[in-house]
Amino acid sequence: MWQALIGLAVTVVVVRVIYRFRSGRFDSLTRLDGKTVIVTGSSADEIIKTSGNNNVEVQQLDTSDLSSVRRFADGILKSEKRLDILVNNAGIAGHHKREITKDGLEFTMATNYYGHFLLTNLLLGLLKKSAPSRIINVSSLMHTFCKKLDPEDLNFEKSSYLSISAYNQSKLCNILFTLELSNKLKGTGVTTNSLHPGVVATEINAKAAGIIPVIVDILFQLMGKTCDMGAQTTIYLAVSDEVEDVSGKYFVDCKEVECSELARHRGMAKKLWVASELDVKLQEDEMHY
Ligand SMILES: NC(=O)c1ccc[n+]([C@@H]2O[C@H](COP(=O)([O-])OP(=O)(O)OC[C@H]3O[C@@H](n4cnc5c(N)ncnc54)[C@H](OP(=O)(O)O)[C@@H]3O)[C@@H](O)[C@H]2O)c1
Repeated sequence: MWQALIGLAVTVVVVRVIYRFRSGRFDSLTRLDGKTVIVTGSSADEIIKTSGNNNVEVQQLDTSDLSSVRRFADGILKSEKRLDILVNNAGIAGHHKREITKDGLEFTMATNYYGHFLLTNLLLGLLKKSAPSRIINVSSLMHTFCKKLDPEDLNFEKSSYLSISAYNQSKLCNILFTLELSNKLKGTGVTTNSLHPGVVATEINAKAAGIIPVIVDILFQLMGKTCDMGAQTTIYLAVSDEVEDVSGKYFVDCKEVECSELARHRGMAKKLWVASELDVKLQEDEMHY
C-alpha cells in the first residue's frame, strides 16, 4: 500500500516537473502604454494586484447571452476610442446536461464560441480603426477529439449531447472561426490566431458538476501548469513582434503547431461562419469585415 502511494506521488512529481519544464515561456520588455486590451473571463482584482497597473476596468459580460454581448460591445464602442488587442478567453467545461439559452443556443457552445463570435464581429470596426491590432482566441488541444462538425447541428438538436463533446466542438469552432476571420481580415492590419494554453491548474473543472470533473480537477491541480505559465502563449500572441504579420494560425507553448485536419478545413470554416451569423442573428449593420 505504502509502496503504491509513494510510486504514485513520485509519478505525479515527475510528470509535473517535466510538463512545467517543457512549458513555453515568453519574455519581453514590450509595454502596452496607451493601448486598449479586452480579455474576456478575467479577474480585474488579480490583474491590478499582480501587475500594479491600476488602469484596469471590469465590465459585466455574459458570453452565453447574446443581449449581454451586444450591451457590452455597445458600451465599449461608446467609451473606447481604440481597441488594440481582443482576447477571447472566457470558457466553461463539463456542463453536464444539454441546456438551451434564451437565444436558442446550446449553453457550452454559446459561452465558449457564439458569444465570442458575436463579440468579435461587433468590435471589428474598432479593431480595424486601431490597426495594427490583434484578436486571440483561446481554444484547446481537446478540439482534436471532435472528428466531425455539422454546421446544421451546432446545438446538438439531432446528435446526442455529452458535455465533453460540446466542449471539444466549441474549441474546434474557435479555431475554424480564427481561420475564416483571418481570411476576411486580409490586408486590414488586424491579425487573429488561436492557441491551446496547456493543461493549466485553473478553476475550470472545479466549477463543473460530477465525479469526473473532480478527478480531472485533482490531476490538473497536481500536474498542470500554473496560471502564469498557462498565460504565456496568449501573451506571446498579444505582444510578440515575431507574430506581427502572422494570422489564422494555431499555437501551443509559444510556437506555431498544426491543429487537426478538420480545424484546417477552409470549406468547413466558411460553412461554420455562415451558420454562426444566422444563429447569432448578425445584422447587416453589425458586419464590419
Ligand atoms: N485550464 C486548462 O487546462 C485549459 C486547457 C485548454 C483550454 N483552456 C481554455 O482556457 C480558457 C480559460 O479557462 P480557464 O482554464 O482559465 O478557466 P477558469 O479559471 O474557469 O476561467 C474561465 C473564466 O471565464 C469566465 N466565464 C465563464 N463563463 C462565462 C460567461 N458566460 N461569460 C463571461 N465569462 C465567463 C469565468 O468567470 P467566472 O469565474 O465568473 O465563472 C472565468 O473568469 C477557456 O477558454 C478554456 O476553454 C483551459
